[in-house]
Amino acid sequence: MKQRRWITVGAVAVATVAALNAVPATANRPYDPTAQSLGALGQRHGLQVGTAVDLAALNDANDPQYRRLAASEFSSVTAENAMKWESLEPTRGVYDWAAADQLVEFARRNKQSVRGHVLVWHSQLPTWLTSGVADGSISKQELRELLRKHITTVVSRYKGKIWQWDVVNEAVSDPWDTPSTLHYKGFWAQNLGPGYIADAFRWARAADPRALLFYNDYNIEAFGSGNPADDKSQFVYDMVKGLRAQGVPVDGIGSQGHLGTQYGNYDTLQVTAALKKFTSLGVATAFTEVDVRSELTEAVQAGNSAEINPRLQASAANFSVLMKACLAVRSCLSYTVWGFTDRHSWVPGWFNEPPQGMATIYDENYQPKRAYHELKSDLIFAGPPYVLPRIAPKPRR
Ligand code: XIL
Repeated sequence: MKQRRWITVGAVAVATVAALNAVPATANRPYDPTAQSLGALGQRHGLQVGTAVDLAALNDANDPQYRRLAASEFSSVTAENAMKWESLEPTRGVYDWAAADQLVEFARRNKQSVRGHVLVWHSQLPTWLTSGVADGSISKQELRELLRKHITTVVSRYKGKIWQWDVVNEAVSDPWDTPSTLHYKGFWAQNLGPGYIADAFRWARAADPRALLFYNDYNIEAFGSGNPADDKSQFVYDMVKGLRAQGVPVDGIGSQGHLGTQYGNYDTLQVTAALKKFTSLGVATAFTEVDVRSELTEAVQAGNSAEINPRLQASAANFSVLMKACLAVRSCLSYTVWGFTDRHSWVPGWFNEPPQGMATIYDENYQPKRAYHELKSDLIFAGPPYVLPRIAPKPRR
């Protein structure tokens, strides 16, 4: 009985994959997977391959390659900054939707799904909000009401157009913070206490019953000691478990995937195990902001290939580890890179002691790097029995 069930599941999976793989190949133009986009190859697995989009680059008339690749190579997009609170409501009560609307329209035209980023985060908040709280002109009670209104306004505007929302981002501290015992950190926890997290998910759900609601964070690609006092993945696991036990509509855990070639990082099976453990809570998973930065030593900057090559290779390997783990776990619904070209990447501007860069899958001249080819290979070579099509959860009521 058990075996028969397994065979049925396997047969259905193989048939589904075969159907997804049905591509129009002709005698003179045989199907060549290496000529497909990452997005198209992802579809074979039901996996969306996305990128963060920099709206300034998208609108730069002198940079048509950026637009072309953003449209053609990916099946999902995320606003790198345009949906953050400081961008949407720079002046209290006055929303500026232009950039966010433009991205949603871009996605519609290109048949891409949208990851909404981000509703609640301690960073990139408008000054009127943070200074109002600091000088006492905005009370705690009013702050909670402002948050409710913000979430309701933004989620309602894009109702039905957003596939996954990052509802709460980076709520948990790191071991290098003070105190070093992991805790809820930042503006929202300090002013409203950790209860804002459950509130935020409930308000988002009320405004869009169909979007998948994610908790999103970095440094949760693998588990460590298993002690929530110093293992961030475990802390997040316990948090989501607790929230779901209270009926809070958390549908997914997003692992940002900001890696660096100077670190130890992880292997595929470690990351697979982490995704599986998150999945055991009944939630979807996703890699939401993948990039792999490198230190730009003087030799790298001088073009020394003996220093550049190992970085390109380590970067490709790290991109690939996350992709293979994602493919292996059926709850992993999307793999999003945080910018696709070194021409437009947040890394050089944010990590400068020492200078870092080379973090994306295309170089500054839009030439695909090893990392791009490895991602493509992973998508091409993966299949049953280990890699099966995705299983998406139903949005939780
Ligand atoms: C970054 C953007 O890429 C930058 O352009 C901006 O100046 C700062 O924020 N984690 C997140 C993202 O969730 O929103 C951050 O994006 C990168 C880290």
